[in-house]
Amino acid sequence: MSASPYGSQPAADTRRKPVTTATIAAMHQRGERIAMLTAYDATFAAVANAAGVDAILVGDSLGMVCQGSTYTVSVSLESMAYHTQCVAKGLARADGAALIIADLPFGAYRQSREQAIASAIALMQAGAQMVKLEGGGWAIEVVAFLVERGIPVCGHLGLTPQTVSALGGYRVQGRENEAAHRLRSDALALQQAGASMAAFEMIPAALARDITEEMTACPTIGIGAGSGTAGQVLVMHDMLGMNLGRMPKFVKNFMQETGDIREAFAAYVQAVKQGVFPDNAQHAW
Ligand code: KIV
Repeated sequence: MSASPYGSQPAADTRRKPVTTATIAAMHQRGERIAMLTAYDATFAAVANAAGVDAILVGDSLGMVCQGSTYTVSVSLESMAYHTQCVAKGLARADGAALIIADLPFGAYRQSREQAIASAIALMQAGAQMVKLEGGGWAIEVVAFLVERGIPVCGHLGLTPQTVSALGGYRVQGRENEAAHRLRSDALALQQAGASMAAFEMIPAALARDITEEMTACPTIGIGAGSGTAGQVLVMHDMLGMNLGRMPKFVKNFMQETGDIREAFAAYVQAVKQGVFPDNAQHAW
């Protein structure tokens, strides 16, 4: 470190380090909660990044919030790649940036492992550093296949929006014993397959907490899964109170308290880090 010509100490380097998969693993090991938000364009991604989110998910929820669809199944790989590029450009100018995770959409990984790897490569080339895919069972093999080929993967269990028709609607998963056992064994299999993260959507808080305790090598990210997961994710529009439909119980409107988008993002990050969001009495089952 060179001395200042004016005799004072050089200012401490307060720049944020880029968040990598290794950063996420280290956060998990030291018990620091992971704050994730969705974003779909350059500006919101940059603002969320500046607020300190650890990871930005380019979710296929863009089918609803950007494209006006009722479900995520219609989202194409091309749309995912386009929005991933937009987010990556928004973060490119940032001094230290959040990890970018992109969803593999419904029609892009179910046919074969070859289809899955080609789709994952397209998203990584668009700027993602990790891909997310939904499902246990058959999907675990796909996760292992991608991980072996150097593609970090986030799994997604519980309420999997891409198969909401098969699940019979947006309802809490894993309530009955058998379903809870299946969820636990899928989660442990994801960890075994080398997944870097596992999202748990709409499952009972106690189940999410118990599985999280067993997932020592794979942080769990909850959405409607209570406060016992290693991190949290919300759809940006929901936490800003811009949901056009019914607001899910697990969402908190962070805009209401602050009236400012930057402050709402920062309040979310702080609430996740401090473990005060979600409040199990209000936002969990
Ligand atoms: O698409 C998305 O935004 C997601 C989150 C709900 C986890 O998958």
